[in-house]
Amino acid sequence: MAIKVLMVCLGNICRSPLAEGILQNKVDSDEIHVDSAGTGGYHIGSKPDPRSIEVGKRHSIDISHQRCRQFTTADFDAFDVIYAMDRSNYRNIIALAQNEHHKNKVKLLLEALDTSTMEVPDPYYDDDGFEHVFHLIDEACTVIAKKLDNK
Ligand code: 4NP
Repeated sequence: MAIKVLMVCLGNICRSPLAEGILQNKVDSDEIHVDSAGTGGYHIGSKPDPRSIEVGKRHSIDISHQRCRQFTTADFDAFDVIYAMDRSNYRNIIALAQNEHHKNKVKLLLEALDTSTMEVPDPYYDDDGFEHVFHLIDEACTVIAKKLDNK
């Protein structure tokens, strides 16, 4: 059975759609299924932010087909690993967990990197932040893809 990975941010329009597209692009989709969601419900049904679509396109990752959805408690059972983009997302997800098993599935994406920067910054109010966000997510996903492939 495929390993299921969920990428989570606040809006599910900037960071986690990129994380979904980037990781899915690095792994065999028969083996590993990647999805994304937001803890907030502001943009449900929307396409990713045009700035995320654009930075993805620049790096040959097409995320334009994705549609925003909100994280739900059912995701704790549906996914094997849940990656939060920042500590606020992490806290919001953990607050919905019903048991330790659920909590143990939740990690910060950048834990995969040996870095002091543990958070992917929210680029929503920063037009220049998208390229930086892309590279942070890409580096983490390279490490995660290698680990998943070795399982
Ligand atoms: P994201 O960025 O969490 O990376 O998708 C945001 C998108 C929208 C909002 C906040 C963050 N918002 O407040 O609408």
